[in-house]
Amino acid sequence: MSRIPFEQLPADVRRAITDKTGAVHRALTAQGGMNSGIASVLETESGSVFVKGIPTDHPQVAAQHREATVAPHLPASCPRLYWHLESGGWSLLGWEVIDGRHADYRPASPDLPLVEAALTELQAVTAPADVEIKCAVDRWADYAPPGTSHYFSGNALLHTDFAPDNVLIVDDRARIVDWAWPTRGAAWIDPGSLALRLMDAGHPVEAAVAFARRFPSWRDAEPEALVSFGAATAALWHEIADGDGTPWKLGMAERAVTLGHVLRGRL
Ligand SMILES: Nc1ncnc2c1ncn2[C@@H]1O[C@H](COP(=O)(O)OP(=O)(O)OP(=O)(O)O)[C@@H](O)[C@H]1O
Ligand SMILES: [Mg+2]
Repeated sequence: MSRIPFEQLPADVRRAITDKTGAVHRALTAQGGMNSGIASVLETESGSVFVKGIPTDHPQVAAQHREATVAPHLPASCPRLYWHLESGGWSLLGWEVIDGRHADYRPASPDLPLVEAALTELQAVTAPADVEIKCAVDRWADYAPPGTSHYFSGNALLHTDFAPDNVLIVDDRARIVDWAWPTRGAAWIDPGSLALRLMDAGHPVEAAVAFARRFPSWRDAEPEALVSFGAATAALWHEIADGDGTPWKLGMAERAVTLGHVLRGRL
């Protein structure tokens, strides 16, 4: 959806925010991402806060609720959630501000070891048992070759959306933001998702897979699981690109096919 500046939120919604933060001195709309109707860094009487929000009648509002639910369970590389409020037809999250820039995934980027460190930290986190989050088997069942979706099962807390604008670099550290799709599943899924994004940033497929191999979860995965992942990723991106025609989506679909071929050992 299109993103509006903070000032264009209805007055009662802005009031609900200032009830939490005190007076807002300055609001700066964030770049990157597309689903949030508002994504702004606010300088307020009580300090800075990143406010992300979407109308409560928008189909993606469930993603806001998932983010709020998982927030207390996130590792240190992720921002803290200060508050969640629903007011005047808007669902809003108030996050710790990460004052950084989007990660550079290109080959030889100095950000890559930082991204590896942040994902390594996340790989050690078990999905919380007491909150409802997505299940990887369910998410990939329609895309994985028949009879293989069980490979996606596991207990790791997965992010699953490693677009570079969801990883912010600040002070030699990568911070993982945008927890719209927290998922319980096999830990190797996140290195695999990242590998496709590295390809999108210019890595040859072999280099992207070599990066995934830095993670023990990927090295220890059953080869059949990775073959299933490659096929499922290709099917998923085919669906995303199909009938849309956006060059970037078509490119991602092609890259996913290439990844799938390599994981099947057939390039
Ligand atoms: N805690 C934060 N501090 C500062 N900036 C942030 C923070 N979280 C996200 N951003 C910035 O805001 C942008 C949009 O936020 P985010 O990625 O969470 O939402 P989105 O991609 O619009 O929505 P969705 O949840 O639907 O994917 C990010 O790309 C990033 O540039
Ligand atoms: Mg995003």
